[in-house]
Amino acid sequence: MNYNKKSIEDIEVAGKRVLCRCDFNVPTKAGVITSDKRIVAALPTIKYLVEHNAKVILCSHMGKPKGEWKPELSLKIVAARLSELLGKEVIMAADVAGEDAKAKAAALKDGDVMLLENTRYIKGETKNDPELSRDLASMADIFVNDAFGTAHRAHSSTAGVADYLPAVSGYLVQKEVSIMGKALANPERPFVAILGGAKVADKLNVINNLLEKVDTLIIGGGMAYTFAAAQGYTVGKSLLDESKIDYCKEMMEKASAKGVKLLLPVDCVVGNFPSPIDGSVDVKTVAINEIPDDLEGMDIGEKTAAIFADAVKNAKTVVWNGPMGVFENPTLAKGTIAMAQALADSDAVTIVGGGDSAAACEQLGFADKITHISTGGGASLEFLEGLELPGIACLQDK
Ligand code: 3PG
Repeated sequence: MNYNKKSIEDIEVAGKRVLCRCDFNVPTKAGVITSDKRIVAALPTIKYLVEHNAKVILCSHMGKPKGEWKPELSLKIVAARLSELLGKEVIMAADVAGEDAKAKAAALKDGDVMLLENTRYIKGETKNDPELSRDLASMADIFVNDAFGTAHRAHSSTAGVADYLPAVSGYLVQKEVSIMGKALANPERPFVAILGGAKVADKLNVINNLLEKVDTLIIGGGMAYTFAAAQGYTVGKSLLDESKIDYCKEMMEKASAKGVKLLLPVDCVVGNFPSPIDGSVDVKTVAINEIPDDLEGMDIGEKTAAIFADAVKNAKTVVWNGPMGVFENPTLAKGTIAMAQALADSDAVTIVGGGDSAAACEQLGFADKITHISTGGGASLEFLEGLELPGIACLQDK
């Protein structure tokens, strides 16, 4: 895929109505934003547009309302936070591309900022409905995509609208693509990738694609137990995808044929099944080939964490996606913390993608020691898979 796309600096925005897709899909609790990271990440583009006298029309989805007008998924709280961060009013539209949005867009003055309601309030959004794309486009002269976190979705507001307007990238999309693109295309070696998370099935293509590129591939988290089964071990009550055991064997063979070091857990923390997300839990550490029949593996063990950290220490480029255990529970977070610590201590180019591993780095206060924490979960994973991201493919080439 060609990532050399035109940006906001390659197009005249002064006096123009600019529809800018952001990813304001922020986590909330009881109506309060719990992390404004994605809003903050969109500021450079929004500020550029304001300072260059564009009439700025922002849009985003939040959650999955599936065409229903769910008040708890309104973007009003985002408008309020954005207004604080920008130090200026953010005009909130009462609809997505309806009468109110159109009237407010038409009345914008140069440098004004408005925000449309949750694009997924309209059924057509996730179907990439041309009617919604045209409606959105009718309010603007230029489309800017700055929603890296949603770039893997071919929706009306992320890709469809680009059929009707000149379309360029914002600074966040540019930054994500250039840092991750460079790491994958031309990494400083040794290049180490760490994959975690619950399911092998979610990461099949990522494993396959990364084996073409890395020197060392580290696998932890729930998916490691299917690899343990592929090594011939019994895994008790641990997460296991029997249909993927052969695939794991294939990947182990591929790694050895390519001379890629594949590091799998040698020990793990086991406890009662089902694993509790919070609350206290009795655990012990066992060798990976000694998981008791009635217990579940819920984190990597200390020996494994030391082996994985050692590989990170010697790396020049590290990409990490997915936690090593049930890290929401402090007793089961040690493996994930050890990985975050290893990345923070490393002088390598370190890139963290995926909601959970990114959250772990942030919660631990390591964010500023990591080269780049992606705002994308699914998007950064698809990027690692080498897939074409529709929200980027639709933008004008340089
Ligand atoms: C995300 O949170 O990963 C993005 O905002 C995309 O959300 P989605 O998975 O609901 O499309």
